Amino acid sequence: MRLEGKAALITGAARGIGLEFARAYIAEGATVALADIDGEGVRRSADALGAGAFAIQMDVTRQASIDAGFAEAIDTLGKVDILINNAALFTAAPIAEITRTDYDRVFAVNTAGTFFCMQAAARHMIERGSGGKIINMASQAGRRGEPLVAAYCATKAAVISLTQSAGLDLIRYGINVNAIAPGVVDGEHWDGVDEQFAKLENRPFGEKKRMVATSVPIGRMAKAPDLTGMAIFLASPEADYIVAQTYGVDGGNWMA
Ligand SMILES: NC(=O)c1ccc[n+]([C@@H]2O[C@H](COP(=O)([O-])OP(=O)(O)OC[C@H]3O[C@@H](n4cnc5c(N)ncnc54)[C@H](O)[C@@H]3O)[C@@H](O)[C@H]2O)c1
Repeated sequence: MRLEGKAALITGAARGIGLEFARAYIAEGATVALADIDGEGVRRSADALGAGAFAIQMDVTRQASIDAGFAEAIDTLGKVDILINNAALFTAAPIAEITRTDYDRVFAVNTAGTFFCMQAAARHMIERGSGGKIINMASQAGRRGEPLVAAYCATKAAVISLTQSAGLDLIRYGINVNAIAPGVVDGEHWDGVDEQFAKLENRPFGEKKRMVATSVPIGRMAKAPDLTGMAIFLASPEADYIVAQTYGVDGGNWMA
């Protein structure tokens, strides 16, 4: 029960990694507001988790929605001690073909969404005066270029940079900002990635996934539960002295 009595808000928690983080946090004694643009999906997911889980419809690209979502979470949970900025989109296209609409959208969700949720959490945590933990979901993609993934990679490089600056700014209030950089995590997200690469690289469905899985040093893709240990640790008092870091949880993928 390493998070007993703590209240967390997790964005993009209707499915995938965010939902798994919510499950793990509740098992550690926290109450969790699961926030997602997919209102129906997030309600279903929160209902399935049961006691300690609350659903909030929130679009991280709209300030009014962020403000309303945080107000609802604080009202329901009494406070927010932990924020996980997990909501994100993936988009792949060659530089010559990426549209301004796609570029703007992926930055709006992955980068501006992360920044303004971090700001909303920081304002609340500063006002309360009890510190807090903010965990941003980066990616191995933020640490290197990929030929067909320029925009997404850049959004995640920005998340690593924001984690560094916000970490340095907010630690004076006892707010630790750190990030997790996963490698390749199996789930609906990667099904969508596989579909995009199938079209772009003219491959059968599933082939890209098989290729990336065999190239991970540990021998397989991650599953969402592989990431929960780091998410619990970074939210716990054991991580009080850790500031502005991005941790790879990727089976050795980036190092290779
Ligand atoms: N799956 C991977 O291989 C992988 C690898 C590296 C990093 N990551 C990162 O981990 C995080 C979670 O990934 P996942 O695999 O669970 O993705 P996912 O696509 O399964 O889940 C993302 C969630 O974000 C929500 N979302 C999208 N736009 C939103 C918005 N505007 N406002 C609120 N919610 C919104 C979606 O509805 C969805 O529920 C993301 O930040 C992702 O970039 C994933």
